[in-house]
Amino acid sequence: MPNKSDLKFKRILFKVSGEAMMGDKGFGHDVDAIKGICDQIVAAHELGCEICLVVGGGNIFRGVSVAATGMERASADYMGMLATCINGLALQNALEKRGIDTRMQSAIHMDSICEPYIKRKAVRHLEKNRIVIFSAGTGNPFFTTDTAAVLRAIEVKCDVILKGTQVDGVYSADPKIDKNAVRYEKVKYIDVLKQDLKVMDQTAITLAKDNKLPIVVFSIKGDKALCDVVQGKGKFTIIN
Ligand code: GTP
Repeated sequence: MPNKSDLKFKRILFKVSGEAMMGDKGFGHDVDAIKGICDQIVAAHELGCEICLVVGGGNIFRGVSVAATGMERASADYMGMLATCINGLALQNALEKRGIDTRMQSAIHMDSICEPYIKRKAVRHLEKNRIVIFSAGTGNPFFTTDTAAVLRAIEVKCDVILKGTQVDGVYSADPKIDKNAVRYEKVKYIDVLKQDLKVMDQTAITLAKDNKLPIVVFSIKGDKALCDVVQGKGKFTIIN
């Protein structure tokens, strides 16, 4: 049975993609997919990790693509931020059904629904072993939820940001398209930026680089993927 001292990363920010919450449905929420995500989070929590979550909203609303069809970008982004709150509530509910204490904080005030984002309060929640869900991105249009994840991780002093994807790390090209794509064990922020490796948007990578926040990219497939990564096991790419 692993214990806390086996943890490579103690305080983590796990970026949950909105798309992962819709499973094969193509839109919205899939109960089994959300259960699968929560299984992983609960298992890492049981290992003793202090966990923050930032969730995307792409399963409900994709601000960037809607803006491309003519809607003002700021409005589209605000709609996307509201979508992250819907996802945050779904995750909160699924986690609390399993008896885990959670607190959701939003970058946009919606006081009847959840707490406003207050850094010091978030840190106290983590110290009390509560999972903290940060919703509504950064609260500003033109920023992605990846950037929000990096920002919050820096603010509450996470050891790492964990980005679960469909592939087991960062590749030189999309491995689904290019058979010769090379997988990296480690990659420097500057190389992610220069080669425009599509891990996160450049704003997020730059913010992580300036604040020396490691980013770990791993495959979310498998029941124990998150547990393995927090113990430094399994396959992943570390950007630092
Ligand atoms: P401690 O101060 O460590 O005891 O944390 P706590 O979160 O239990 O205390 P608090 O009294 O701040 O919160 C009690 C409950 O109210 C928690 O479920 C919070 O998430 C919730 N809560 C606190 N502030 C707000 C708010 O502004 N809006 C909403 N909707 N809920 C809030």
